[in-house]
Amino acid sequence: MSSNPNQPSNTFHSYVFGGEHLDGDRLTLQHKIFQPNFQEVIERVLGPEYGLATRIEQVLNMSKGDKLKPAPIRILDAGCGEGLFLYYLAGLLERRGLLNPAVMQLVGVDSNLTAVATATDFVSTVQPARPYLRFICHDLTKPFELNPELRSILSIRQGQTNSTATKEASEGWLEEGGGFDFIYAHAVAEHIPNAQQHIKYWYNLLKPGGIIFLLDAVLNVDSSGLEVPHPALAPYFSRAFQYTKQINGLNVSEVAKDWLDQLGAEQIQFFPVIIPAGGNSEIGMMMLRNLVMIVRNTLPQLIALKIMTEEEGQALIDLLFKELSPQCIGHFTCLNTLARKPLA
Ligand SMILES: C[S@@+](CC[C@H](N)C(=O)[O-])C[C@H]1O[C@@H](n2cnc3c(N)ncnc32)[C@H](O)[C@@H]1O
Repeated sequence: MSSNPNQPSNTFHSYVFGGEHLDGDRLTLQHKIFQPNFQEVIERVLGPEYGLATRIEQVLNMSKGDKLKPAPIRILDAGCGEGLFLYYLAGLLERRGLLNPAVMQLVGVDSNLTAVATATDFVSTVQPARPYLRFICHDLTKPFELNPELRSILSIRQGQTNSTATKEASEGWLEEGGGFDFIYAHAVAEHIPNAQQHIKYWYNLLKPGGIIFLLDAVLNVDSSGLEVPHPALAPYFSRAFQYTKQINGLNVSEVAKDWLDQLGAEQIQFFPVIIPAGGNSEIGMMMLRNLVMIVRNTLPQLIALKIMTEEEGQALIDLLFKELSPQCIGHFTCLNTLARKPLA
C-alpha cells in the first residue's frame, strides 16, 4: 500500500528510526519479508504452547448458548502501520473457523493518521467482509483510556477515565473480561522512548492469561545484528542505530524479556530471526531493497539532525546505485519475545 505524500510530517513524531517521512511502501515490503517469521510466531501463540486457539474456541462455544454472553476476544496490533498484519491474521483465523465477528475485536493502533486512514479505507472498500477490524489513530505513549474508542473497546471501569489518569493506575481499571487476549507489537517498541514503561503498560492491558509479542531489531552493526551487505552501509547504519538506541539507551530487543520477567510474566520465550540481506534469494533481495529504502527514507532526518551531511548522504546513494549487486550479502537480525500474563 502506498502513502499520501501530503501527509504532515509531525504525524511520525515518535517514530524515531522511521523519521518524519512516509514509510508505507517500505513497510509493505517489510511485511512480506517478515511473513515467515510471524507465521511461526502465530502458530506458537495459537497452538498448545500459548493456547490462544483454545481460548477463542471456548468463547465461540459460549457465544452459541443463549445464557452467557462471553467477553469478546480482543487482539491488539500496537503500531499497526497500514494494518497488514491484522488482515493476514483475520484471514488465517477465518480459514481455521476461529473467527466470529460477534465476539471478536481485532484492533490496530497507530499514531500515523495516514497509515490508519489507509487501513480503514481498505477495510471498508477492498475488504468489506471484515468490519470487525478496527484501526484507531492513537499515540501509544498516551494512556489508552484517554481515547474514547479504545476506552469502549477495553471495558474500563466506570469512573476511572478522568484526565488524572496515569499509566501506573491502569492496573485494576479493567472490568472483568476487559483487556486484550493478545498484544502484538512488531518493530514498534524500539521506536518509543521509555519503552520499558510502555511495555509495562501494554502488559497491564492484557487479560489474565493474555499473551504479548514483541519483535525488535538488534541494533548492532556486526554479525550479531546487521552484517552489512556493502561496507559503505556500515557508517550509515552505525549512526542511525546509535540515534535510535539513544531514545532508550539500549537495544530494546535484548532486554524486553528481562522487563517482562520483572513484571511477573510467565512462559517467556525469545528467539532470533535472521534474514539474509542481498545474495540471490528472493527474501535476500527484498531485504537489500528494504535497507536501501531505509537509507533513502531516513536520510533527510539524519541530515536535519546533523548526524550526516547532505554530501555524505548523496555520495552513499550514488555508490550504492553503482555497486549493489547479488554479490553483496549480509544479514539482519531481530529478536522475537513472547510471554504470557499469569491466569491468577
Ligand atoms: C517500523 S513501523 C512497524 C509497522 C508494523 N508494525 C510493521 O511491522 O510493519 C513502526 C510503526 O510504529 C508506529 N509508531 C511509532 N511510534 C508510535 C507511537 N508513539 N504511537 C503509535 N504508533 C507509533 C509508526 O507510525 C509505525 O507505523
